Amino acid sequence: MPEIRPETQQDIDAIGEVTGQAFGQQVEVDLVNHLREHGRAVVSLVAEIDGRVVGHILFSPATVESDNPTFEVLCLAPVSVLPAYQRQGIGSQLIRAALEECRLLGHEVVVLVGHPEYYPRFGFVRANALGLECEFEAPDEAWMAIELRPGALAGRKGRVKFQPEFQDAVQKQPPRSR
Ligand SMILES: CC(C)(COP(=O)(O)OP(=O)(O)OC[C@H]1O[C@@H](n2cnc3c(N)ncnc32)[C@H](O)[C@@H]1OP(=O)(O)O)[C@@H](O)C(=O)NCCC(=O)NCCS
Repeated sequence: MPEIRPETQQDIDAIGEVTGQAFGQQVEVDLVNHLREHGRAVVSLVAEIDGRVVGHILFSPATVESDNPTFEVLCLAPVSVLPAYQRQGIGSQLIRAALEECRLLGHEVVVLVGHPEYYPRFGFVRANALGLECEFEAPDEAWMAIELRPGALAGRKGRVKFQPEFQDAVQKQPPRSR
């Protein structure tokens, strides 16, 4: 059973290792580091087993632009589990704990671009159906959102704009759930 806790300064290298191994490339490692350096990591949790960081999840603010006043949502990206520890429920525990943390902090909506088979189990649904467009090109079924406060998106719609750090990442590839 992993311990899920907020990241600390001492975790930074281990988080880079987990992210790099999970995605098999540097793009998401840089994304995490840049978001953190620029103070955009609203929620950043690690999963630790026997003193080793084996998973990580990060949320950054995103802005919903519309004809009405803009409002803020959170973007879940990236979430990573070391390959040797995948499919043991660690990612699910991280996601559930982090969504609860976001809710406790008063955040109402979380969006992501990710595996359409994975995220619905946590309550994510198609974001387009809730009135949210993605600023990046993403398959309809991969662009997802969850209302942490039921009805939070009622009567609201718009285009979600991510932090500029995502532009760098997207230039190298389209955003997944990051
Ligand atoms: C996605 C990820 C964080 C899930 O963590 P995990 O600890 O393996 O997840 P869990 O054990 O809680 O859940 C396992 C489930 O995840 C699903 N899953 C894992 N990776 C998946 C993938 N690449 N595509 C679709 N589903 C996936 C499986 O369906 C599995 O379901 P099952 O139990 O019915 O087989 C982890 O696999 C990972 O780090 N992947 C590489 C990085 C990545 O793709 N991040 C997310 C981008 S959307």
